[in-house]
This record gives sequence, C-alpha cells and structure tokens, in this order.
Amino acid sequence: MTAPLSPRSPADIFLVMNPKQRAAEAALEQVQSGMVLGLGTGSTADYFLQALAAAIKTGRLADLRGVPTSRQSERRAQYLGIPLASLVECPTPDLTIDGADEIDPHLNLIKGLGGALLREKIVAQNSRRLLIIADSSKSVPALGVKSPLPVEVAPFGHESHERFLRSLGATPILRKAQDALYTTDNGNYIYDCRFSRIDDPEQLQSALKSRAGIVETGLFIGLAHEAIIAGDEGLEHRTR
Ligand code: A5P
Repeated sequence: MTAPLSPRSPADIFLVMNPKQRAAEAALEQVQSGMVLGLGTGSTADYFLQALAAAIKTGRLADLRGVPTSRQSERRAQYLGIPLASLVECPTPDLTIDGADEIDPHLNLIKGLGGALLREKIVAQNSRRLLIIADSSKSVPALGVKSPLPVEVAPFGHESHERFLRSLGATPILRKAQDALYTTDNGNYIYDCRFSRIDDPEQLQSALKSRAGIVETGLFIGLAHEAIIAGDEGLEHRTR
C-alpha cells in the first residue's frame, strides 16, 4: 500500500529546490512593488524571472518594469508576462539581479559565458544596485581559476587579437556555435580566454580595454553590491 502524500510546507519546498533556484527565490525578497529591475541572463537569472512572474501573477508585486540584458531575457520576460522597459525609458534601474560565472572574495566577477556581457555591464553600471545570484560552485578564491574570461571583439580584424591575448598570458579560443562563429546580440565575436589565475583584474581590464577592437570584457570589477550564494549548507549573503 502506498503512503498518502503529505502536504509540503513552504520551507520544505525551499529545501527541494536546486541551489540556483534557492538563490533566485531569496533575491525576490529584495524586490518591492514599483521598482525598475535589470533582468539578468542565464539559467540562474531565469529562475529569478520565473519567481518574479509568479509574484506578479499572484498580485504580491505590482507596478514593476524590467530592463533586459539580452534578447534571451527579453524573450523570456515577454513570455512570462513581465512588463519591459528600455534603458532610455528607465535610465537608472533600482536593482539589477543577474548570475555570474565566478565570484571572488571581493565580489569581483567573471561574467559572459552566456554571451551577454556587454549589455549586462551596461545595465549594471546604470543600476543603483547589482545583486548577484549563484550556486556555490561560482565562488572562487581568485578570478580565472575555473572559468575562461569572455572578451567581446568587433568582427573587423578580430584574428589580430589572438596574439595580443596570448601576450597577456591567456589561451584564447574563438567561440563557435555549431559550425559558425558565435555572434553576440551586438553582432560581435567572443574570445574565451583561459588564464591559470587572474591576480590583478584591474590591470588586466585596463590592458584589454586599451586595444582597439576589444569591445568589452567579462571582468565586472567593483560593480556588484551584494551576492546571494546558495550551497548545501544554506544561503550565504555577501555584501560589499
Ligand atoms: C551571461 O552572459 C552570463 O554573464 C551569466 O550571468 C552567467 O553565465 C551565469 O550563468 P548561469 O546562471 O546559467 O550559470
């Protein structure tokens, strides 16, 4: 005989969620009606979009608008019924909630494995607060130890950057999508640059940005105000 299913409390439901989803649900507690939100890109940010859409549907949150950081998050928000706005209409989002590929102890980040680094950085730089949501695999002692650093380049003469990137200690790989080159929402290409470890992110950022044709890098230095990191032990809330 099968035992009847017992009803689950909200706390039980929280425990069976995966870590990315738990971080996203915790971030929702920081959202208030009337806010303009920057909407991040990636699987963790997508859990946040789902939680936000559910809160709008039940009426718990109202009068919100989202500024998407990619065509992907724009399409998802539209599908989920989240009202959207552009940076022109809402130039200073109250809070941007986004994922990350690496988070160091100073809340510096590597972002862009999902390809949205340029729009993500533009929205983050214009937001009052940037809240990062992630599972604990993204927490690292130093940037570059796990994830390659995505570097977005203009298509013209992009091959010339390879030697330059190597001179900075990187092993660059031009990102591909199936048989073609991967193209960002902005029509650019991405070099995924593997470093053994990035000891001085500021210096690397400035070296990369001094080169014509390098549009942006996935180094987010001093931009994140806080991070909610979910692991087996629970939630860690880091603030700057
Ligand atoms: C998107 O371009 C990235 O910056 C994402 O924020 C990052 O790749 C995190 O993705 P996941 O949440 O899917 O791990």
